[in-house]
Amino acid sequence: MQVNLPILLLLLCVGTLVCFLMLKLVRQRREYRILFESVPCTISIQNKNFEIIRYNREFADTFDISQGKYCYTVYKGLRERCVSCPVSRTFNDGKSHYSEEERTNKDGSKKFWIVKTAPIRNTKGEITAAIEMCLDVTHRKELEEELSRSEKKYYAIFNNIPNPVFVLDPDSHRILDCNRSVEAVYGYAQSEVISRSFLDFFVEEDKSHYEFNLNKASEINQVKQVTKDGAIRFVNIRISPTEFLGQHVLLVTAGDITKRLEAEHQLSQASKLATLGEMATGVAHELNQPLTVIKMASTFFMKKISQNEAIPAEILRNMSEKISNNIDRANRIINHMRDFARKSDMRLDKVQVNDVLGKAFEIFSQQFKLRQIAVTWELQKNLPVIMADAGRLEQVFINLLVNARDSIEKRWAKSDPNAVSEKRIFLKTALKGKKVVVEVEDTGTGIPKGIQNKIFEPFFTTKEVGKGTGLGLSISYGIVKDFHGEIRLCDPFHGGACFHLEFPIHQLTQDVEHGKK
Ligand SMILES: Nc1ncnc2c1ncn2[C@@H]1O[C@H](COP(=O)(O)OP(=O)(O)O)[C@@H](O)[C@H]1O
Ligand SMILES: [Mg+2]
Repeated sequence: MQVNLPILLLLLCVGTLVCFLMLKLVRQRREYRILFESVPCTISIQNKNFEIIRYNREFADTFDISQGKYCYTVYKGLRERCVSCPVSRTFNDGKSHYSEEERTNKDGSKKFWIVKTAPIRNTKGEITAAIEMCLDVTHRKELEEELSRSEKKYYAIFNNIPNPVFVLDPDSHRILDCNRSVEAVYGYAQSEVISRSFLDFFVEEDKSHYEFNLNKASEINQVKQVTKDGAIRFVNIRISPTEFLGQHVLLVTAGDITKRLEAEHQLSQASKLATLGEMATGVAHELNQPLTVIKMASTFFMKKISQNEAIPAEILRNMSEKISNNIDRANRIINHMRDFARKSDMRLDKVQVNDVLGKAFEIFSQQFKLRQIAVTWELQKNLPVIMADAGRLEQVFINLLVNARDSIEKRWAKSDPNAVSEKRIFLKTALKGKKVVVEVEDTGTGIPKGIQNKIFEPFFTTKEVGKGTGLGLSISYGIVKDFHGEIRLCDPFHGGACFHLEFPIHQLTQDVEHGKK
């Protein structure tokens, strides 16, 4: 047989090339296989019957392949195909699909994974299988659920706080969120309130004041607000700046104090009536003087008329003026009584302490004179105003004056009325830091140590039945607290009792003072 050398050489070359390419293919195949096996997510390849025909190592480690051949059995332990199956969608439209899947394990725990599918085509472009890649997101899902559970828990706490809580935008004061208690206090459903301005709850005349103060103060007490049906509610507001959904907000809690205020008010009104009884004696004395002047003038006129005598113009003018002045004085006293007896509307206004103390004293001046009780005044001029209710503050001062009077009377009852009197009340006001201080001191019996911690309790009295109600100091204590002030006993210089009161000066006045510096 004749050997054709060139053909032999050619065959040898082709053979070597084929061998080389085959080796390369085998190496590539091995590399892809390693890659397929070591991808850190589960991969399975399914034929059109949803049978798993190949899978990687991660898949074998994650799922129990011995359960069956179908994907729904291995992945989810099901006997039938899943209702929404990303693989079947890939078979239908030839596209890649994404889904989130879950399965309940035998022990009740859950497993979650995200799925991405892609078609596998043959050389003719026909889909013969699908590849399904899964990433286990159980841990992330658990964290999300934990977060959502804790959010729900805090939201439940937020909703069940008995006081209304608002989340406000600090610039516009728009309500971003609020709890369920808002409905009980304001009558609005949560949904009606969200996006409205918190300022809508304030009475018209107070809006601008609170618009300014909401961002400055941390608490505002006894604020007057309006409910859905137009009723007035009094609330104590607490404000704290905080973060909410990544945004700076104001967290505002409103404590409804309307019922408490009403009850206190009724008690205070009852004690006011008792004080009015005290005042009545003072008023009788006070009215006596103008009435005497008027009586004298009218007797003089009648006498002149009955004797047919002319009254000189100068005298007539003079006496008419006296009558008119004294009628004005009587009117002032009566109006004062009426103002005092009137129910206050529980609003806090700017009040000058010296004026109120002067007014409270006015009604007793005659009475004190008759009882030979002297008064030493030490009022600081130009005191800044405080936020209070003038009528109720007057009630506090009257209670203190009445107690001082009673105590002085008790101590000096048996003293010689002609001896030099030590009966004296000292009334002092001063500005100390940002507080207006008032001190009422007397030369009475003083308060024994043993009862000093009881005198502010309701119904505590050492006075005889019918004389003391034991309400004066306890009501005064409540009133002073309402004005954010304090009342306490202090060391007396003059042997009797000494009451020290202090009130914060009005916020805006503080700001003005501050601005001056
Ligand atoms: N200036 C005072 N001097 C002595 N004791 C006082 C004085 N003020 C109050 N007290 C004591 O405090 C008690 C309670 O006072 P208060 O609450 O005004 O009730 P009431 O005057 O009706 O007794 C008085 O009964 C008295 O014992
Ligand atoms: Mg009293």
